[in-house]
Amino acid sequence: MTIDPAKQAAGEAAAGLVSSGMRLGLGTGSTVAYFLEALAARGLEVTGVPTSEATAARCRELGIGLIPPEDADRLDLCVDGADELDRELNLTKGGGGALLREKVVASLADRMVVIATVDKLVDRLGESFPLPVEVVPFALGPVRRRLEGLGFEVSERRAGGVPQLTDNGNVIVDCRMRGGIEDPAVLEATLAMVPGIAESGLFVGLASLALLGAPDGSVERVEPTSD
Ligand code: A5P
Repeated sequence: MTIDPAKQAAGEAAAGLVSSGMRLGLGTGSTVAYFLEALAARGLEVTGVPTSEATAARCRELGIGLIPPEDADRLDLCVDGADELDRELNLTKGGGGALLREKVVASLADRMVVIATVDKLVDRLGESFPLPVEVVPFALGPVRRRLEGLGFEVSERRAGGVPQLTDNGNVIVDCRMRGGIEDPAVLEATLAMVPGIAESGLFVGLASLALLGAPDGSVERVEPTSD
């Protein structure tokens, strides 16, 4: 496997925040993969709730203890990737399709730390990366029309010619808005009210620190300005 030094630097920096005994939220994606490796290498006594079947499988390989989601009331720290983030640490997530479990797990944690590469920091979310939205299959038609009514160009995520199902058996639509997302908090609340939307990939007010890796192996820390 070719090493990505920027993702590796972010993952390793996040592993440095973990101490023995912590209960963790374990995100999903290629940056989190470096975090899991660095975490396992530290040999700490930790357990975590995985946000996807892929992360659960990797934890088993690495010997990281798993907590069943039904036993997870409070977590010390959640570490997860992002597709885009702004300076207030509003995020778009779900490029890997794990957004619903990721949001549930992040909401249980005292602290959410985002790990990403520096190029994912943007002035406005949604200008280049579409917003993933997880939809219950039964409601796909009405939800699509509702999203189009809000001004989105909507495309159903497919793999091998068929709709790509999430770990929850739902489908994902990727939503593009010309000019990006004006107010992430308002949009997140609006989408949460639409029957049939299981979850949106907008994460507002959850993350308190971002560790952004650069190709030279340095890591930039970003904290929200209005905290
Ligand atoms: C998974 O659904 C996503 O939310 C990922 O956390 C996000 O796509 C970032 O993934 P990478 O670290 O692979 O870019």
